[in-house]
Amino acid sequence: MASNMITITNNADGSSHEYPLKTGTLGPGAVDISALYRDAGIFTYDPGFMATASCHSAITYIDGEQGVLLYRGYPIEQLATRASFLEVAYLLLYGELPQERQLLHFERDIIEHMMINENLKNFLNGFHYDAHPMAILCGVVGSLSAFYHEAMDVNDPDYRDISARQLIAKVPTIAAAAYKHSVGEPIMYPRDELRYCANFLHMMFATPRADFKPDLIAEKALNLLFILHADHEQNASTSTVRLAGSSGANPFACVAAGIASLWGPAHGGANEAVLDMLLEIGDVANVPKFIAKAKDKDDPFRLMGFGHRVYKNYDPRAKIIREVCHQVLEEVSGAGDDPLFELAMKLEEIALNDEYFVERKLYPNVDFYSGIIYSALGVPRNMFTVMFAVARTVGWVTHWTEMMSDPANRIGRPRQVYNGPERRDYLPISKR
Ligand code: ACO
Repeated sequence: MASNMITITNNADGSSHEYPLKTGTLGPGAVDISALYRDAGIFTYDPGFMATASCHSAITYIDGEQGVLLYRGYPIEQLATRASFLEVAYLLLYGELPQERQLLHFERDIIEHMMINENLKNFLNGFHYDAHPMAILCGVVGSLSAFYHEAMDVNDPDYRDISARQLIAKVPTIAAAAYKHSVGEPIMYPRDELRYCANFLHMMFATPRADFKPDLIAEKALNLLFILHADHEQNASTSTVRLAGSSGANPFACVAAGIASLWGPAHGGANEAVLDMLLEIGDVANVPKFIAKAKDKDDPFRLMGFGHRVYKNYDPRAKIIREVCHQVLEEVSGAGDDPLFELAMKLEEIALNDEYFVERKLYPNVDFYSGIIYSALGVPRNMFTVMFAVARTVGWVTHWTEMMSDPANRIGRPRQVYNGPERRDYLPISKR
């Protein structure tokens, strides 16, 4: 057997076949078993993709054992503290950090595209005032394909680039409009003179009755959180975008599918669930009770913001957020640490010393602390996952673009192990 081949032997009939081991620049390789069914008439079974690489990708690298996260090779710690969100968006989309002129051009283009078609307001107005903003975001982003369809050609690289930029530009406007709708305030239009994050704060918090100057600390905090959430390789929502896009669906529909997937509490919905959980715990004295609930297999309760499919170490994004939390809380509210932050730190300390969490390598993930910062910025809880979606749009469109330019791209079509009834004949209703 050649050293880069893996042999799979079927002990039942003694047959064996060789499959190539694909290796990347970093991380484990993967056996290419795409010919297994043709060779041996069997599928592989891996619910939840525990050990399945679904594609090649050059965007983001995670080493879950070491707690490493790289965007296009750059450590998240360096980008989070030194780059702007649109600089990171450019890096993710195009693979290299932009030159000054490229960044200026990219920023101007995105800001200019932040306006949404005025008729989209009719969609927003159709939602009940108490609709969850994630429901509004999902519906309105999906409807963008009905507005920007003139040049729609997913096989054209120029169209792909334009639509990627449109999504990065328009999702924050729709997100802020969803918030305004929920509080019954008029939608605020984006402003050309404001940077991306400042524009978002303006669209969220400005009203027509007074001048509004986005707070620099809040802008800095948002910039940081958006960078941390921008991409995370083949997570559930990104894989959803890829699967939807693999059929040739338009990028607006694909991103709407990604938003739907992100909403679940096991994924992006966890940031909202963490705050709900902290409020329910209420006091440090109640922490042991909730830890016991999380460990009880007969209780569906899980410690929200804890655990990750890939990280078996501290999530590097959670480490960064935890470090800046003190500073942001002090600077934004001027009141020092929030009692919920104190509670979260205590909960983390107790969980990290508990055998159950240690054995299973359950550490805080990015969502454990992000909601506390969003709260300090005045963002309501039901908007937390929407904030995540705004940032992750960059990752979704980058993966969609990468997939659509990959000659190996084929429609995603998993197989199954069928365990339903065997063939049987139809019976007339009187004989059943
Ligand atoms: N609280 C208590 N127990 C947990 C938790 C938790 N938060 N997370 C995992 N476990 C336990 C499981 O019960 C299981 O125990 P067992 O081996 O005794 O059966 C073991 O740890 C492994 O858990 P799985 O669910 O098999 O791990 P998986 O990789 O499928 O799930 C997930 C990862 C969904 C993130 C999970 O840890 C979880 O539900 N966490 C809480 C929700 C959350 O914070 N989600 C955000 C993820 S990050 C993101 O999407 C941005």
